[in-house]
Amino acid sequence: MSEPLRLGIAGLGTVGVGVVKIIRQQAALLEARTGRRIAISAVSARSKDRDRGVNLNDYAWEDDPVALATRDDVDVFVELMGGEDGPARAATEAALKAGKDVVTANKAMLAINGQALAEMAEAQGRAIRYEAAVAGGIPVIKTLMEGLAGNGITRVMGVMNGSCNYILTRMEDSGKTYQDIFAEADGLGYLEADPQLDVGGIDAAHKLAILSAIAFGTKVDFDGIQLEGIERVSIEDIRAAADMGYKIKLLGVTQKTGRGLEQRMQPCLVPDTSPLAQLQGGTNMVVLEGDAVGQIVLRGAGAGEGPTASAVMADVCDLARGVTGPVFGQPADTLVAATAALTKLPAPYYLRLALVDKPGALAKIATVLGEAGVSIDRMRQYAHDAASAPVLIVTHKTTQSAIETAIGAMDSTNVMAAAPVALRIEEV
Ligand code: HSE
Repeated sequence: MSEPLRLGIAGLGTVGVGVVKIIRQQAALLEARTGRRIAISAVSARSKDRDRGVNLNDYAWEDDPVALATRDDVDVFVELMGGEDGPARAATEAALKAGKDVVTANKAMLAINGQALAEMAEAQGRAIRYEAAVAGGIPVIKTLMEGLAGNGITRVMGVMNGSCNYILTRMEDSGKTYQDIFAEADGLGYLEADPQLDVGGIDAAHKLAILSAIAFGTKVDFDGIQLEGIERVSIEDIRAAADMGYKIKLLGVTQKTGRGLEQRMQPCLVPDTSPLAQLQGGTNMVVLEGDAVGQIVLRGAGAGEGPTASAVMADVCDLARGVTGPVFGQPADTLVAATAALTKLPAPYYLRLALVDKPGALAKIATVLGEAGVSIDRMRQYAHDAASAPVLIVTHKTTQSAIETAIGAMDSTNVMAAAPVALRIEEV
């Protein structure tokens, strides 16, 4: 029997505790599957005395994660602290320099500092594995890097923030406003300590940046993502979209346009009949499209103790078996700088307009759209209230700039009772 694989685990929050539990409870299964015992040598966290509901007495304790990462009895440093810089990055770099492999769940660190860390790891002949960093328990990194290795990837899409999906689906079910459901989610502890990471789309964009690098062989480029959160999604739009046959999702999309890489995280409409529209509550879904395989849909828990620890253990097991490889699926020095697409690929758009109720108002809007080159596919006008006539329009495929031109011109028609809303419709 081979030597045990010895871990040093930094971070004993929900995920860290989940990893310790799996290693303790599934010792025989892990050894049977990898041919090695998976052992924990030492652990580290902010507070030693907190009762975490798991026995840590068998493991050495380190207050300093750098000291943990460089211990002689640690083969693999498991980084579960989080944060793009600070102790997580310092300890990861120390581990690599000390000749250790690294397993991390840290999407922020990889999305911002992934290229530098990949170069460092590969120069040291070490691995960084991070299945848990994207979409929790869904094995999307492995699927992209291994299962789809023979494909040119054409598009990656995903709902990758469970808190936002919870908020949007609760708004659908309850008819309550964004503000009401945000407060509910916060009260239930569903949001990050800084909720802007969730509702601002930042957490999901970190994950998209990582997938994008693997899918398209580019240096991870978080700043190249066009980013918009869910704060401006109103209950009126949730209702109106449903009426036109759509659901609203915080959707990440990355694809090649022929003139650069399009990366965006924004609220989009998806057809009611699509797999993405079926996604309820805090669940995640990633849709991968390859030139040979077609479309693959992966769905599962995007967060939580068991699912995220499951993903960490997949990486630990690979390292126990000696399965490593370049950090982003090809050597870091072969990754090219992403050229951001200047224009996004055309798409249909949803428009919600509130028109003043007077003769010719609709005609003026139709003219403005026509002059901008935007063609109407479907349109619905609702019963007028005292102040305005609500109108919904679904356009044929058009460009964002044409929509912006049309919306700009609507301003001077004197028939708008409120600012128009425009959302992209993603064809799935
Ligand atoms: N806040 C995140 C989510 C946790 O809701 O998906 C996992 O990144």
